Amino acid sequence: MVSKSPYGKLELTEAMCVGCPAIDDEHRDLIEIINNIAGAYDDSKFENCKGHIRHFTDSMKKHFRREEEILEELGFSRLDEHRKHHLAIESDIEAISQDLGDDISDRQAWGTFYQKLISVAVDDAVKADMDFKSFLMEKNRWSGSI
Ligand SMILES: [Fe+2]
Ligand SMILES: [Fe+2]
Repeated sequence: MVSKSPYGKLELTEAMCVGCPAIDDEHRDLIEIINNIAGAYDDSKFENCKGHIRHFTDSMKKHFRREEEILEELGFSRLDEHRKHHLAIESDIEAISQDLGDDISDRQAWGTFYQKLISVAVDDAVKADMDFKSFLMEKNRWSGSI
């Protein structure tokens, strides 16, 4: 089904991949859930949409913990900073979900929520991960595939 969202379908581009399949797959899954959120909203399936939002929040937290574990195992030196960034994103997502409230049918409130969701989840989470991309590439070069 083609999404009728004014923002279009999101996808993880090659440039946004960090080179660790476990992390890239989870980023792809998170983006897919955002597409599901938008798709359900565009079809006016508000309850499904709320379910997808909860799914996104849970998956994002699990992803952050998994990513932190991987980076810790590999000895990433800026892990503390990255952990703080994850926590900030988690509270941002919580705050925008609370602002949206329970009745999500209001188009204006929804538009604000969705734009913020994309900017927080994609711009912050995925772009912030570019910080460890070169570190992973270097690791890969010396020890083979991660
Ligand atoms: Fe990530
Ligand atoms: Fe991250």
